[in-house]
Amino acid sequence: MGIMLTVQNAAATPAIIRREDYTAPDWLVPQIDLEFDLAAAATQVRAQLRLVRNGAHDRPVRLDGDGLTPLSVLRDGAVASDWTLVDGALIIPVMGDVALIETVVTLAPDQNTQLMGLYASGGLLCTQCEAEGFRRITFFPDRPDVLSRYRVRMTADKAHYPVLLGNGDCTGSGDLGDGRHWAEWTDPFPKPSYLFALVAGQLAANRDQFVTMSGKTVDLAIWVAEADLPKTQHAMDALKASMAWDERVYGREYDLGQFNIVAVADFNFGAMENKSLNIFNSRYILADPETATDLDYDAVAGVVAHEYFHNWSGNRVTCRDWFQLSLKEGFTVFRDQCFSADQGSAAVKRIEDVRILRAAQFPEDAGPLAHPIRPDSYIEISNFYTATIYNKGAEIIRMLNTLLGPEMFRKGTDLYFDRHDGTAATCEDFVRAMEDASGQDLAQFRLWYATAGTPRLTVRIADDRLIIDQRVPDTPGQTGKPPLMIPLRLALFDPATGTHGGDRLEVLTKARTEIALPAGSGRPVLSINRGFAAPITVETDRTSADLAFLSAHDDDPFGRYEAMQQLMLDTLVTAVQTGSADHDPVIAAVRTTLTNTALDPAFVGEAVLLPSEAFIGDQLEVVDPDAIHAAREALRCALGTTLSDHWDAAYRRHAADHFVYSPEAKGARRLRNVALGYLAAARADDAGPLAFAQFSAADNMTDRLAALGTLANGDAPERSLALHSFYDRFRDNALVIDKWFATQVMSTRADTLAVVEALRTHPDFTLHNPNRVRALAGAFSMNQLHFHAADGAGYRLLADLLLALDPINPQTAAKLLPPLGRWRRFDPARQALMRAQLERILAAPGLSKDLFEQASKSLA
Ligand code: PHE
Ligand code: ZN
Repeated sequence: MGIMLTVQNAAATPAIIRREDYTAPDWLVPQIDLEFDLAAAATQVRAQLRLVRNGAHDRPVRLDGDGLTPLSVLRDGAVASDWTLVDGALIIPVMGDVALIETVVTLAPDQNTQLMGLYASGGLLCTQCEAEGFRRITFFPDRPDVLSRYRVRMTADKAHYPVLLGNGDCTGSGDLGDGRHWAEWTDPFPKPSYLFALVAGQLAANRDQFVTMSGKTVDLAIWVAEADLPKTQHAMDALKASMAWDERVYGREYDLGQFNIVAVADFNFGAMENKSLNIFNSRYILADPETATDLDYDAVAGVVAHEYFHNWSGNRVTCRDWFQLSLKEGFTVFRDQCFSADQGSAAVKRIEDVRILRAAQFPEDAGPLAHPIRPDSYIEISNFYTATIYNKGAEIIRMLNTLLGPEMFRKGTDLYFDRHDGTAATCEDFVRAMEDASGQDLAQFRLWYATAGTPRLTVRIADDRLIIDQRVPDTPGQTGKPPLMIPLRLALFDPATGTHGGDRLEVLTKARTEIALPAGSGRPVLSINRGFAAPITVETDRTSADLAFLSAHDDDPFGRYEAMQQLMLDTLVTAVQTGSADHDPVIAAVRTTLTNTALDPAFVGEAVLLPSEAFIGDQLEVVDPDAIHAAREALRCALGTTLSDHWDAAYRRHAADHFVYSPEAKGARRLRNVALGYLAAARADDAGPLAFAQFSAADNMTDRLAALGTLANGDAPERSLALHSFYDRFRDNALVIDKWFATQVMSTRADTLAVVEALRTHPDFTLHNPNRVRALAGAFSMNQLHFHAADGAGYRLLADLLLALDPINPQTAAKLLPPLGRWRRFDPARQALMRAQLERILAAPGLSKDLFEQASKSLA
């Protein structure tokens, strides 16, 4: 269907890399010495590689390169002229079993718009090497199972680049007398090339220290532009908390004398765990009440923890090949989720994590780009930094924790770290360590690593038993899948007493499981997949009375949230399908939750929120964006109107005199801003003054942005005043201007498409900053109502932007494509419009392999 026809030049079709083709490296590189003569326009890189033949073979040395031209190649000190370049890689014949190869190349960091390899961001020079960026810096076997000791010497202009940072310890520095200076960094830990990093620039440090459990002092520094120093304390607190947490929970201690973090403005992802030199997207470091929301604060702490935790789960034990990516990412996300849960409300954290999984991973798992957490093939590995690898990967580690129990799980991680420290491991190694430590048979559990698609349980109560059927949906290349091992937590409530006979863990292994119900009791109310112990969907025959009961009485906070969500979803799906629905059960349940003063306000704020338009769409056979929006707005308005006194009371009760950063204050702000949204929904006409009053009086970004979002969605006269004053106030703060872009493109107002068009040519818009691109295109494609405008204008807009972005930053372009690939979920007219844009992208001359892979798979 299309692909072969569209791609006219079959020879240009990028190669597919397969997991089954893995072979050990031909040559190892125990030691590399690098010399960087740094400048933004032209940087010279001299690399000396000590190569050792690995095994008995007569193959030449092959050093990956991407866009590099060797200025000189020396073999054992003598000029070599018998080398060739094949697909960018340097091929050099070597007779003996060891060789010293030296190459020199020149780079242009200020021309590097892909932000992979060595690039310029603001006045800084920095690197990004995961997954295959090191080959853009020097010729090297750029694969994660080649571990080397690095010694790195940098020289640079002292005025422009006073700070020179590398991995490991600084082992020398000095002045060259001509306005230039140098520094040498040595990393004692062998590492794969993707963990290499350097930074040069004008930076100031927030410094602190951490004393490890064995009494070693670690010097900590967070490096930013001087003016941003006041915004680094939250990240520093999170770093110290993470270091202590990893000692306490996993027994893992930091292993070097220094730990540096640098924040940069232009970055393709969130952050990078380079050994002892983490490089961050500045949005995950900088936070103060004036510019960062509570969600931003949480994200900063979560990402700081994530990157720190990688020092063990990723760096000390790394991945054998990129198919094993979830070995480090799934496990590390699980670790950062648990860390964050320990910092505040664990229940709210779990709800947020499930919401992300459902918003980002479930659609991926149900669409053309579905893949197992350990994929079998890829064209471009950058396309596999997905919600499946990260978030479903974390859920699979969480299930191991549930199945084994925390003690055996910890025994398993200890064994894993013991066995594999200093090596490049596989997902199989991880599971085997769990199996060996616990004595449990995980043969069937391993299927989770190989199976794409979200398993679906159908559960019904039949007389004296519970009947549970599981089915794993077909996904591209995978049909007729065997049942998985699913840890299912459930409880059977007696509605008369409001109690249950205990939380049970049922381990499903078969297509059908039957569970006997206790004799003599009436029909129980089922609380199922409690705590969201398994990443599955569940269909039950629970009535709205059952759900209302659970939303008020389930002692599992997730179960309580889930019951409310299900009740809301059932109501909204009925409304979409039939044009109307009885709102009363939802209103009654929300009233009960809202007036239950025993509940944590942070939890209430989550529980009373309606499911997103996208998630409602996911429940339908065919997504109808307009009908969904209308149904959701009607219910929102009914909730706002009928419960207006309660929203008003909540709004008043949770007002604060001044900003405090604490879990309690955060919860209060959350509930208050949810209440504001409902009040606005109820009185469209005087929502303006209320929201504008909050906007103007706010002493923090959480309240200011919530009010701005409310205004941006409506027609109040205060709307444009608020948008203008927000812009004027924060025009010099890129991270806040990102919010200004995103807020407008997420609006449900009728003029949103025109607004997006206008913002696309706004002087502050640039295709060169990934955060800004995501604030416009990423946020807009989440706007179900307008991205899916019936005339296809939204699709065209996204495709235009991706085609313009591809030559500049193909990685970021490819990440933004998947919303176009969900065409199967829509009506035939929209399907045709979406496919037309995918075909247009695929036909573009010079398309990157990143975008080629995403677009071609999306059409298949
Ligand atoms: N490994 C990084 C993380 O998960 C993510 C990343 C991937 C960053 C590729 C940059 C490039 O923390
Ligand atoms: Zn990671």
